[in-house]
This record gives sequence, C-alpha cells and structure tokens, in this order.
Amino acid sequence: MKIVVTGGCGFIGSAVIRHLLRKTSHQVLNIDCMTYAASEETVAEVATQPRYRHEAISINNQNAVERALAAFQPDAIMHLAAESHVDRSIDGPGAFIQTNVVGTYCLLEAARQYWLGLEGAKKAGFRFLHISTDEVFGHLEPEAPPFTEETAYDPRSPYSASKAASDHLVRAWYHTYGFPAFVTNTTNNYGPWHFPEKLIPLMIINALEGRPLPVYGKGENIRDWLFVEDHAAALVRAVERGKPGETYAIGARQPRKNLDVVRQICAILDELAPDPAGPRERLISFVSDRPGHDFRYEIDPSHAETCLEWKAEHDFETGLRRTIQWYLEHKAWWQRLREQRYDGQRLGVQK
Ligand code: NAD
Ligand code: TYD
Repeated sequence: MKIVVTGGCGFIGSAVIRHLLRKTSHQVLNIDCMTYAASEETVAEVATQPRYRHEAISINNQNAVERALAAFQPDAIMHLAAESHVDRSIDGPGAFIQTNVVGTYCLLEAARQYWLGLEGAKKAGFRFLHISTDEVFGHLEPEAPPFTEETAYDPRSPYSASKAASDHLVRAWYHTYGFPAFVTNTTNNYGPWHFPEKLIPLMIINALEGRPLPVYGKGENIRDWLFVEDHAAALVRAVERGKPGETYAIGARQPRKNLDVVRQICAILDELAPDPAGPRERLISFVSDRPGHDFRYEIDPSHAETCLEWKAEHDFETGLRRTIQWYLEHKAWWQRLREQRYDGQRLGVQK
C-alpha cells in the first residue's frame, strides 16, 4: 500500500512510520508541518529509504495537501496530525480549534476530492483512518465500567472537545458522502520520543535532573497506559483491515494512579541510575490541580482485539522500564528540547 501519515514527526505518528518501514513493505508519505512537537530525529532511521518521503506542509493548506495526494496516489491516509497537550489547550485553545477541527476538515475535503477522482479497485479499497483519543468520552467515576465504542461523547477540555469535533466531522463524511473513513479512540500512550511536556517523560527527565516532580492535585487521577509501539501495531492493523464507518477503542488494560506512576518511575531510576543525594521520591511535589482535571480514563479494548486480531504486548511495568532505559540513552535529544524552552510555562520546574 501507499500510505499517507499526517503528523509523522510527532510521538505516535513517528512510531507508526518506524513500524511501517521496519515491518511492512508499504510506502509512506509523511505530511507534517513541524510544529514545536515535531522532531526530525524521530524518523531519522527511515529518512534515506526510498519507500519514505516527507512533505513539510500543513493539513490546513488544502491546496497543498490536494497536490501532495495527487502526486503520491495513496491507498490510505492515517491522520495523526494534531495539537495534543491538554495543558496547552487550557492556556491557548485557538491552535487546537485551528489544527484539530479546521485542519481535519481541510484534510477530509482534500482526501474526498482525491477519492472522488479514483476508479475501480483503487477507489473501493481507499481508507481514511482518523486517530483520536478516549478523552472525547469525558471521564469515569471510580467504579464505572471502562469506555467502549458505544460510550456517549462528553468532552470536558478544549483539547478533548476539539478532538470530539474532528471525530464528528469524520463520521459525518462517512454517512453523508460515503467517504470510507473510520476512527480509533486510544488511551494515554507512553514510550520513546514522547515530548517532555507530558507526564511520563517530564517526570523521568526532572527526576534525572534532580528537579521537583509536579504532581497535580493529590495524584489520584487515573490514566490507562498503552506502550506507543503496541499502539502503532494496532493502527497499522487497523489501516490494513479496518472497515469504513467502524470505531475501534484501543487500550492495554493498564490503568494506574498518577502518583503510583511517578513513584514507579522514581524506583526504576533509583535502580538504573542511582542518585547520590538519595531516593527520588523526595522530589515529589504536589502542585495546584489542572482546571477541570478529568478523574479517570480507561478503555475496554475487546472489540478492537477481536476485529483487528491485535493485543498489546507490553504491560505497564515492562513498557515503563523500556521507556526509562530509552530516555537514559537519548539524553542529547531531550536536553536539546529542554534548552529550547519550548514555552517554559509547564516545564515542571515551577508552575
Ligand atoms: P504530538 O503532539 O506528539 O505530534 C503531533 C504532530 O502533528 C507533530 O509532529 C506536529 O508537527 C504535527 N502537526 C501539528 N499540526 C499540524 C498541521 N497543521 N499540519 C501538519 N502537521 C501538523 O502528538 P501525538 O501524541 O503523537 O498524537 C498523535 C495523534 O494521536 C493526535 O491526533 C492525538 O490526538 C492522538 N492521541 C494521542 C494520545 C497520546 O497519548 N499521545 C492518545 C490518544 C490519541
Ligand atoms: P498528560 O501527560 O498531560 O496526559 P492527559 O492529560 O492527556 O491524560 O497527563 C497525564 C496525567 O498526569 C493527567 O492526569 C495530568 C497529570 N499530570 C501531572 O500530575 N503533572 C504534570 O506535570 C503533567 C504534565 C500531568
């Protein structure tokens, strides 16, 4: 297949591209306009392969995307380009509306025009996979059953509202125009190349630098953690086998309290890179809570596991150890990002 990946220099998009180039014979066009969240290094291992190309254009530039699709002639589009950080969406929601809502609209229209011009098997086989989040379902009370594909939408942050809007657009294009699109909603990812503003990389890096570990509220909020390489494998399976109009909720059944996650990071780091000043738990610092902080996310991935014949390979402990080892071995990458002070507001040093 010829596959367009949008947002392919970001955390999950680059994992998808590395998976596609390492484990399949598909060709890839990466459409990524290189925001603060993008890094060339994430795809450096595939950059010189003839099966890979990158175009630094925005999904909001419909004409440029139309030209790129016409030249590449894809069989599928995997749409991951987005603004993805909840805290940023609270501080500045505008970019989230522009990229996640308007950008998805522009991409859908460019893709629909391209698809309308196809014929025969190429048209019948074309797929548009929209990658979304479980945050569109709102949040769960402690004893509530996990989210499924049937859960009603109830987004509560500017980020999740913008993702929910984009999911609705994708489904409307399927129902109204017969456009062969489908959606995946996934739990929190973690793993290599995760931008240092998100919980797990931020805590690893701050702990290594001896800085405070800023836990929002009491650290009792729960997230369900999926190793990014397992997610990439699920998405590739989805683009190969997924059905138009479907939804696949993807997760690994690994819910953890934030405070337990941070404690576990401290324990693994104390073992792999002991700090002469003492155990890192001393750095845990409870800070003011995120406004509207969703209490709990958790996904029941049974439907996706059955339909896609996929299952996550890593439990949280195995994936976290691999992640921490990776951050220990890739200090140059994250130190450069820290020095750039991508905006400084929530570096986790002080809020
Ligand atoms: P990320 O922030 O790491 O990367 C996003 C990428 O999109 C960046 O490389 C950026 O340059 C690119 N991009 C942004 N705006 C663009 C535009 N207008 N045109 C082209 N490229 C643009 O995000 P991520 O964590 O890799 O998330 C990827 C997708 O998966 C997003 O849609 C996100 O909502 C979804 N998702 C993420 C998680 C998670 O835990 N990270 C969980 C579920 C779903
Ligand atoms: P985050 O990585 O931002 O992902 P999301 O908000 O999309 O789930 O945050 C994960 C959890 O960690 C969330 O409950 C907020 C919390 N958190 C902290 O306690 N401290 C931090 O510095 C950050 C960035 C997040």
